[in-house]
Amino acid sequence: MSHTPQGQRASLDKQPHEVAAMFDGVAARYDLTNTVLSFGQDRSWRRATRAALGLRPGERVLDVGAGTGVSTEELAHSGAYAVGADLSLGMLYAGKRTRPSVPLLAGDALRLPFADASFDAVTISFALRNVNDTDAALAELARVTRPGGRLVVCEFSTPVNPAFRTVYLSYLMRSLPAVARAVSSNPDAYVYLAESIRAWPDQAALAARIGAAGWGRVAWRNLTGGVVALHRAVRN
Ligand SMILES: C[S@@+](CC[C@H](N)C(=O)[O-])C[C@H]1O[C@@H](n2cnc3c(N)ncnc32)[C@H](O)[C@@H]1O
Repeated sequence: MSHTPQGQRASLDKQPHEVAAMFDGVAARYDLTNTVLSFGQDRSWRRATRAALGLRPGERVLDVGAGTGVSTEELAHSGAYAVGADLSLGMLYAGKRTRPSVPLLAGDALRLPFADASFDAVTISFALRNVNDTDAALAELARVTRPGGRLVVCEFSTPVNPAFRTVYLSYLMRSLPAVARAVSSNPDAYVYLAESIRAWPDQAALAARIGAAGWGRVAWRNLTGGVVALHRAVRN
């Protein structure tokens, strides 16, 4: 963790206490900062995540790394029962204040507080990248999902067009931290955001890891030219 006058950010080895402290520091303005930095795209990414899950009324869906519950709330629009879990108490408190009707609880993606096969579907939005053991988290998501249940991972990925990729990477490394300084309660966390996106596996590499963790029929769809990818899979 680096401590600066602005705040703190996790290092790329993603120790859970550092990650939780970093998100505690951005919680107050998390929803607003997201929308500004993504030029409002985050809303359509969340809607696409809900659609990809194919939720039916009465089904149970778990949203891991739910943060302030912004992703969990979107899932509930399907009529499914959606519950969120997160490591950062600061994010959970912010969610309880702004979305009191969304069920949110404390839980680590690597040791989810649920019995085997508890859910019809599981999802993780912009959070898998922050967990220090990606493969163990994917296996833990499989554990709490019933056989035949669905997974959707919504995560930053690799833009497919090389020219766009160059512009995007320059936005990530230069402009995004500057914009974050104007709107976020912990701008330093957005340096980590940029670095962690650059270090993240591309679409095909993530699909292979999902397939190795107990999931079948793995496929993905690019959003915003591959800035974000939705990976879908079915529990073996
Ligand atoms: C960028 S936020 C995403 C929040 C929300 N899903 C969204 O779409 O806006 C990432 C969240 O993942 C959480 N997180 C990171 N590591 C975690 C872990 N091991 N278990 C549970 N949550 C974790 C962080 O606390 C943070 O709230």
